[in-house]
Amino acid sequence: MAETFKLRVNGVARQVDGDSDMPLLYALRGPLGLVGAKYGCGSEQCGSCSVLMDGVRAFACKITLAQAASRDIVTIEGIGTPDNLHPLQKAFMEEHAFQCGYCTPGLIVTAKALLDRDPDPDAAAIASALQDNLCRCGSHGRVIAAVRRAAKELAR
Ligand code: FES
Ligand code: FES
Repeated sequence: MAETFKLRVNGVARQVDGDSDMPLLYALRGPLGLVGAKYGCGSEQCGSCSVLMDGVRAFACKITLAQAASRDIVTIEGIGTPDNLHPLQKAFMEEHAFQCGYCTPGLIVTAKALLDRDPDPDAAAIASALQDNLCRCGSHGRVIAAVRRAAKELAR
């Protein structure tokens, strides 16, 4: 039976009607109109649906509405805007760290969680943090360079 869930998404209070076991990703991409998080595998295997929940990366394809209620959810739309890109977003563009871009929102969200807890990660730490984010276009080398570039920018 559908219920009303109160969510906090990108700093804004939102409400969603749905079943308690509805994946957060469906609510984000449907009624909430936030399509940055992508559906890939639907089973915690690809990272394309990544969001931050209370500052920690979470797979929105697995988090349910009931689990997301009253938590602080941040999607890629809450990390930067076209007019005010986050340093990670700028760095991904400057390093050409994508081809099709399908994985990019999930990678940036996951990289933000990393930089928030470790402002100066080396390549191994970045690779480890991003190991659950798949890029079928093979951009991982450039992604690591982009995260390093963003870390330097944020340290200025
Ligand atoms: S769609 Fe969520 S991990 Fe792949
Ligand atoms: S850029 Fe295409 S899947 Fe990563």
